Amino acid sequence: MTEIKTERLLLKSTLTDIDRTKEMFSEISAANEIEAYFGIPTKEEIFSIKFPGFFNIYHNEQYIGYAALHRDNNKTDDYETEIYIITRYRRQGFAEEALKALIGAAFCGEIVGKVDRITSSVKQENAPSRALMLKIGFVQEKECVCFVVNEHQKFVALELVQFYLTRELFSR
Ligand SMILES: CC(C)(COP(=O)(O)OP(=O)(O)OC[C@H]1O[C@@H](n2cnc3c(N)ncnc32)[C@H](O)[C@@H]1OP(=O)(O)O)[C@@H](O)C(=O)NCCC(=O)NCCS
Repeated sequence: MTEIKTERLLLKSTLTDIDRTKEMFSEISAANEIEAYFGIPTKEEIFSIKFPGFFNIYHNEQYIGYAALHRDNNKTDDYETEIYIITRYRRQGFAEEALKALIGAAFCGEIVGKVDRITSSVKQENAPSRALMLKIGFVQEKECVCFVVNEHQKFVALELVQFYLTRELFSR
């Protein structure tokens, strides 16, 4: 599936949609959210990877962010989700609408094949995102500290909250 339509949004897979990499990266940088969102400095190239679960989000033909579903690095059978909404389009229910549509399609096997469980790792301090996950129906699994290597090759500790959602929980 390369397009998902909701009441107000159109999600287009980056496999077929034009490349919004630069635009997205400059939006996240301009909002000073690179480290807040990813935990460590992150390069633009990270957005240029194309895979079936990566969707650009449009509202009234305006590009408003992206939502993605990719393999969870820690658990091979799980998929992990992430979403970014450009600051001026926030608090209008777009993240909730987009994620529900993406997750619904994923659990129906329409995005990346069979998906039974979706996870999300959110920085402890990212209150909007934690609230979003709970609102969608994710369950908090655990809090943990994850070590990542920054651009100076130093280990940085990230305090994360991990959430999961199953097909059964989502369809309730
Ligand atoms: C988190 C984010 C995606 C929310 O996008 P959004 O379109 O503003 O969210 P919505 O309007 O759909 O809000 C849905 C729910 O999320 C929660 N939420 C969203 N923004 C919030 C905020 N600033 N404070 C508290 N709760 C918030 C609320 O529960 C909200 O429901 P409500 O409006 O009934 O209270 C957006 O703030 C963002 O892009 N942040 C930076 C990137 C990020 O952290 N992504 C998540 C990592 S997986």
